[in-house]
Amino acid sequence: LGKPVDARPAPWWQQRRDALLALAAEGTPRYAYHLPTVRERARELMSVAAVDRRFFALKANPHPAILRTLEAEGFGFECVSAGELAHLFEVLPKLAPDRVLFTPSFAPRAEFEAALARGVHVTLDSLAPLTQWPGLFQGRDIVLRVDPGFGQGHHEKVRTGGKDAKFGLAAADVPAFVAAARAAGARVAGLHAHIGSGIHDARHWHTVYASLAAIAEGIGTVSFIDVGGGLGVAYDPEAEPFDLAAYGAALAELKAAYPQYALWVEPGRYLVAEAGALLLSVTQVVDKQGQRRVGADGGMNALMRPALYGAWHEIVNLTRLAEPPGAPCDVVGPVCESSDVLGRQRRLPDATAEGDVLLVGHAGAYGAVMANRYNLRALPQEDVLDD
Ligand code: LLP
Repeated sequence: LGKPVDARPAPWWQQRRDALLALAAEGTPRYAYHLPTVRERARELMSVAAVDRRFFALKANPHPAILRTLEAEGFGFECVSAGELAHLFEVLPKLAPDRVLFTPSFAPRAEFEAALARGVHVTLDSLAPLTQWPGLFQGRDIVLRVDPGFGQGHHEKVRTGGKDAKFGLAAADVPAFVAAARAAGARVAGLHAHIGSGIHDARHWHTVYASLAAIAEGIGTVSFIDVGGGLGVAYDPEAEPFDLAAYGAALAELKAAYPQYALWVEPGRYLVAEAGALLLSVTQVVDKQGQRRVGADGGMNALMRPALYGAWHEIVNLTRLAEPPGAPCDVVGPVCESSDVLGRQRRLPDATAEGDVLLVGHAGAYGAVMANRYNLRALPQEDVLDD
């Protein structure tokens, strides 16, 4: 049974409106991250009993305060580049390498060398690293990323499994990989799959774990299975939140069937999306042929998700939060592209005017880190709010 929508807690930013308006007065666009919300999501994931280890996919939000917060909550980290590794260890110099995964895609040899030198868990997702640089993995435990043959997620651009995806080794090629690893003096200690992002069906991880466990049986040296991240979040306040209880139950079933493997997960979005808000200032309000457009000082340069995936983010006028919704308008940015639309047919108050502060909700994951300097605009600032 779904929870009634109005039983949900109000978003954190309603209580922090004054602080946010004060930050916006220092300049926009800027992101604000609410650390108590990050902790809340972290503790929820910590309570999923079937999971043995949790790694934050820091590509979602590498802000130092977020990394420190999640480290303190007991999370490890998943990195995809030498740059992410260097950043992580700069922020958390005492972090044990065992708490870090390196899960690159088509990375150059030098990045594998950097990761191996740090002693973190290194994932290979094709035969190429073993055949091109066989000496590199001598005497090492490695992780194998498998493509279970299907992808899932909120948009075609974030599905990372199946024939058309560049990620992962096809299941049929696993025996050849294991033989090549053995020949190179490496041992397959873990299996990994991540087949997409923004998934709401809890059974998904059940399917992934089952296919990985079946493969692990045939390898013999596997001690852990990493089922990736991909947990969805409800961007729309009227949508059903992610069913973490169903997620935990699906994983518990398989954990019971295969108790010999440690179960690892690596969520990104779930931990940080809701904790982030993007603050923008209204620049102009324009009526053109019956369509109202509210212009903001940041658009697809500050937050790419709507332009790239057609992603929906809540947008409110923080300055006029108490005013009733007005006629529909499009919220657009200042970039010289037609895709620079943050939201269509939104009901901002009719009095919305230059200087008002707009808040874009659930912008903490894949927000600031994907911002860009297109049109030579400055990158957004970032701030944190704590209790
Ligand atoms: N593990 C691996 C290997 C990944 O590639 C990713 C995300 C994750 C974990 C974390 O996935 P999450 O729990 O955040 O879904 N920019 C897109 C999402 C791209 C996801 C890339 N990989 C977006 O804004 O929707």
